[in-house]
Amino acid sequence: MKRKITKAIFPVAGLGTRFLPATKSIPKEILTLVDRPLIQYAIDEARAAGIKEFIFVTARGKSALEDYFDHAPELEATLRKQGKKELLDTLKATNMDSGAIAYIRQHKAMGLGHAVWCAKRLVGNEPFAVILTDDVIAAEKPCLQQMVEAYAETGGNIVAAMEVPPEKTSAYGILDIGEDMGSMVTVKNMVEKPKAEEAPSNLAVIGRYILTPNIMQNLSRLKKGAGGEIQLTDAIAEEIRRGEKVYGFRFRGQRFDCGSKAGFLQATVAFGLAREDLNGEFSQFLAEMTALRRAAE
Ligand code: UTP
Repeated sequence: MKRKITKAIFPVAGLGTRFLPATKSIPKEILTLVDRPLIQYAIDEARAAGIKEFIFVTARGKSALEDYFDHAPELEATLRKQGKKELLDTLKATNMDSGAIAYIRQHKAMGLGHAVWCAKRLVGNEPFAVILTDDVIAAEKPCLQQMVEAYAETGGNIVAAMEVPPEKTSAYGILDIGEDMGSMVTVKNMVEKPKAEEAPSNLAVIGRYILTPNIMQNLSRLKKGAGGEIQLTDAIAEEIRRGEKVYGFRFRGQRFDCGSKAGFLQATVAFGLAREDLNGEFSQFLAEMTALRRAAE
């Protein structure tokens, strides 16, 4: 059965250890690419896909995230008084409607699957989207919107997928491909973080999902998987075993792994260069840096 996707879960309860010491006091999702926090990119993508209810799975030490979505009446009044309309519009674009946003706590970081399961009651008996804010995707049509459109054709479960170099399979959930139809593949199995020699393909799952309510049932029963965590991949793989449809979706766009330092820096450069107000000065600086490094080699 196909239903409109109106709810999205944002699991943001991870410890973010790769960004210590910054993440000692700042949630990773508040770190900024140019001038917008990672979470804002995720929210904008969800809105473009027609999401109306935004469910955050948070944890201790993440209150800055909740504050970020509050209205800022004093700041808005000051900007209005100063006639700073553009800044005011920027600020207003971050406001969320009352009732559109819900927070639920994951009391212990027991894995992505467990974080998604924490939102079970809020999702109810509906298909839902999951967005991992670490994965920032630059795309003409936002990735989740591409997936929602594909879902309207196929139904079932859909995971965003992209080819990775063989030596990187151990960092991802990897798809065992049934039929390859180009932008969509049917999935025979999913393996969490396999070594290159054990990987069934090099098509990796990245942080966008459209999932059926059955996934929540599966998560309820799941035991700890790879790395001692409750894995979302395992709950999706169970659906395949039950004969339900799971598709991999090769999205169009460039994905940045902002959960890693190198990926975050790459995204900063790419998004900085894409900005008209920064492009001139920034690209000149990058050219100078590159020339200096070459000269030093
Ligand atoms: P990661 O594997 O990137 O873990 O989680 P992390 O804790 O965020 O970061 P590092 O590895 O310590 O640097 C992938 C996504 O799943 C969420 C994270 O917030 C992130 O969006 N997650 C992970 C949870 O919400 N709860 C968990 O128990 C684990």
